[in-house]
Amino acid sequence: MQNFTFYSPTYFVFGKDQENETGKYVRRFGGNKVLLHYGGGSVVRSGLLDRIKTSLDKEAIPYVELGGVKPNPRSGLVYEGIELCRKEGVDFVLAIGGGSTIDSAKAIAAGVVYDGDFWDFYQGKLVEKALPIGTVLTIAAAGSEGSPDSVITNEDGMYKRGATGEGFRPTFSILNPALTQTLPAYQTACGITDIMAHLFERYFTTTKEVEVTDRMIEGLLLTMVHEGPRVIADPNNYEARANIMWAGMMAHNNSCGVGRVQDWASHDIEHELSALYDCAHGAGLAVVFPAWMTYNYKHDVMRFAQVASRVWGCNMDFANPENTALAGIQCFRNFLTSIGMPATFAELGAKEEDIPKLAHMAAYGDGRTGHLGGFVSLSEEDIANIYRLML
Ligand code: NZQ
Ligand code: ZN
Repeated sequence: MQNFTFYSPTYFVFGKDQENETGKYVRRFGGNKVLLHYGGGSVVRSGLLDRIKTSLDKEAIPYVELGGVKPNPRSGLVYEGIELCRKEGVDFVLAIGGGSTIDSAKAIAAGVVYDGDFWDFYQGKLVEKALPIGTVLTIAAAGSEGSPDSVITNEDGMYKRGATGEGFRPTFSILNPALTQTLPAYQTACGITDIMAHLFERYFTTTKEVEVTDRMIEGLLLTMVHEGPRVIADPNNYEARANIMWAGMMAHNNSCGVGRVQDWASHDIEHELSALYDCAHGAGLAVVFPAWMTYNYKHDVMRFAQVASRVWGCNMDFANPENTALAGIQCFRNFLTSIGMPATFAELGAKEEDIPKLAHMAAYGDGRTGHLGGFVSLSEEDIANIYRLML
């Protein structure tokens, strides 16, 4: 196991009706004037926004609002949010929604207290300071409610980049699984896929003897394989939603990733797709990840055979473990199809003729140095080959 530090200071509040206490937590974590940040309207339609306003009113905490965050959140609204917070003297940013809203809120929170352009953080500058951030989560997927990361699409060129730093860890996150019951099945499935992708990005490692994190990842993957189909079949299954919601947090706050090399090439390869074609991140991953696995399994056949056996229940072919590895990848593909995820480039609206551009952006765009991935280092040509496997 490699040396590591792990600091995950977010205060999690989990369960039914907990969003009605939001005002109390804003007060507890130092908010005196709040930016309420949300997406395209689901929180207005469900009445959630009103309930949160009521809870702030109860604590006599004033607020301003900025809605309109799009999935794959854009830089333009971040600039608008920074200006609004400065003008209004906001000292606390509250995100109500999914990963896109939380990531946009994080970008605003860092930008308000920074003299330069907030995009510097998305080009590698670490986020050390930001206004305190709280979240009320409405979809189990990105894990941003517990992660030190944010992903934003730069509208000047339409490419997506991530920023990271301890300043991005929310001070509190409220997770009520019942709030996810209004999700369309497709969005639920995108979330399930993203959670599994966060686990696989960590599972495929070159670090030896990381049994504790291997077993944690396998346990969370098994949970997703069990609960995913149950929640697709019955969207109101609170217990299944609860397990998925907590798994989503655990998959990405890095408790399963410490002490080991991680990969993340599939995420970078996907981000080019969701930036250019505006597909859902989870749907993009459903197409990218099996292709990445097929291209790279020979790099460590036994690791792929191990997950095939332990998670997908494939028989271990000791004479030819490659068969087991390939059977596991096929099980993952079948699972994704069974929950309604796409399998091909065309289903994402992606175009074959864009592959050279996508591969170049993934490898070299905006300061990158030509290689992606910690488990296998991929060149621009490898990335293009992986995109071709998705056709
Ligand atoms: O905008 P509204 O109207 O709220 O609708 C949203 C949106 O259309 C809808 N939705 C959310 N909760 C709902 C609901 N509809 C009905 N009922 C509810 N309870 O779902 C749609 C998708 O929302 P979004 O926030 O985009 O989903 P998700 O949480 O999957 O976030 C995706 C973004 O997170 C980034 C992705 O790249 C993508 O931009 N990621 C962020 C990470 C991080 N910060 O750590 C890591 C991830 O790997 C990921 O890259
Ligand atoms: Zn993801």
